[in-house]
Amino acid sequence: MENLKKIKILHLDSNHSLLWKQLEELGFENHQDFASTKEEIEAKIQDYQGIVIRSRFKIDKVFLDKATNLEFIARVGAGLESIDCEYANAKKIHLIAAPEGNRNAVGEHALGMLLSLMNKLNQANLSVKNGNWIREGHRGHELEGKTVGIIGFGNMGKSFAKKLRGFEVEVLCYDILPNVGDQNAKQVALEELQQKADVLSLHTPWTPETDKMVDKEFINAFAKPFWFINTARGKSVVTADLVKALQTGKILGAGLDVLEYEKLSFEKLFDGEKPAAFTYLLETENVLLSPHIGGWTFESHEKLAQVIVDKIKAIYFPTKETAELKRVTGIGGFFFKSKDSKKLIEWYNKHLGLKTDQYGSTFWWKDKEGNDCSTQWSPFSDDTTYFSPSKKQFMQNFRVENVELLLNKLKQEGVTIVGEMETYDYGKFGWILDPEGNKIELWEPIDKAFQ
Ligand SMILES: NC(=O)c1ccc[n+]([C@@H]2O[C@H](COP(=O)([O-])OP(=O)(O)OC[C@H]3O[C@@H](n4cnc5c(N)ncnc54)[C@H](O)[C@@H]3O)[C@@H](O)[C@H]2O)c1
Repeated sequence: MENLKKIKILHLDSNHSLLWKQLEELGFENHQDFASTKEEIEAKIQDYQGIVIRSRFKIDKVFLDKATNLEFIARVGAGLESIDCEYANAKKIHLIAAPEGNRNAVGEHALGMLLSLMNKLNQANLSVKNGNWIREGHRGHELEGKTVGIIGFGNMGKSFAKKLRGFEVEVLCYDILPNVGDQNAKQVALEELQQKADVLSLHTPWTPETDKMVDKEFINAFAKPFWFINTARGKSVVTADLVKALQTGKILGAGLDVLEYEKLSFEKLFDGEKPAAFTYLLETENVLLSPHIGGWTFESHEKLAQVIVDKIKAIYFPTKETAELKRVTGIGGFFFKSKDSKKLIEWYNKHLGLKTDQYGSTFWWKDKEGNDCSTQWSPFSDDTTYFSPSKKQFMQNFRVENVELLLNKLKQEGVTIVGEMETYDYGKFGWILDPEGNKIELWEPIDKAFQ
């Protein structure tokens, strides 16, 4: 607590009042600045250990270099794409996002858009209000019996699939990660989704791979005309190609909560003249638009703030429960010195059937949640220094849930840490000594790197 008096948090956007209040109650010192320029914030950011931001500006290298005392960045929103995560990770800054806070809102919004489009609710509403009573022209389509394809099966995609329970639809999902399908959606190849889907809902982040992903070729690869919902990112869609598909009837209707033309802050549309494709969207009946409010409900306003408080609290006040969660979750590897590793590998291959690669031999298993996990068997050369300062002929490697949090904890508990944490594409690593001076490697794994 004493210590916490020194933790100063700068709030850069306004959020639900509980965020400020609860952080204050926990002993943090809150400051706010909703108006200064990025440069003005940079000039004083070295005074702060934490920042809370929505989407006001990009947290880039320049900013992070000035933020010399920063311990965490909390983004009151689903993703962290406005932050240079790699650089922040290298600086050991905790990155916090709150997709748990608005995923239900996005799931409901996507469903709302789809039902409105298929039942022509918006058109019918306008028509009646203009004094008409046209029934045949507003005949709708039913969802029952259709196949819904979801691309990107993370927080938002899963939430949408959950909302579709009870509609008697087949739900397929496509994701670049393996084994993400669940009881609400069957994971399939992109080609199968494109063959079968009557509805496509996009739930991917904006990355170099998803930038302009939904273009002419992508749309034409669908076997049937389909309804299109985008609550993910506008820049993943080539709007001009979407418009052409609407004109030809390949896309039956589009519900767009996000637009290619949005500013990066998501708070504004572009300035200046409207592109022709945008004008078409504005004037077309089977297009439903909303101003990036999928995750923007009264409930999510509160939930996002609460998730952020809980995550900051977990860093500074780990409970017994979270502490247990953050420690060892399995054996990551069996590493040992060998006089002639080539011969040994051949022997183990011939007699015990172990296949090795650069990491050794990989054993696959599933944890309680059904995730694919791996453990390595790895002979090292006799003269390796990788186990130093340990004198042992072997080194234990443990799988852990969050190596950074665990190292901080172990440090507080007086455990000797060896070297600095290191990050690779197969996970993060840290090293400690046990009381007998044996080095232990802690590994926060990314198992899919070995597949
Ligand atoms: N409209 C809104 O108000 C609103 C609110 C929250 C989130 N979002 C957006 O929703 C999207 C999803 O957010 P999330 O929290 O579910 O993210 P997430 O990281 O939990 O899930 C995204 C999933 O997409 C997958 N993916 C990444 N690249 C892919 C590709 N090329 N092809 C197929 N799958 C790919 C990932 O493996 C992951 O499973 C993001 O773009 C986010 O910004 C919008």
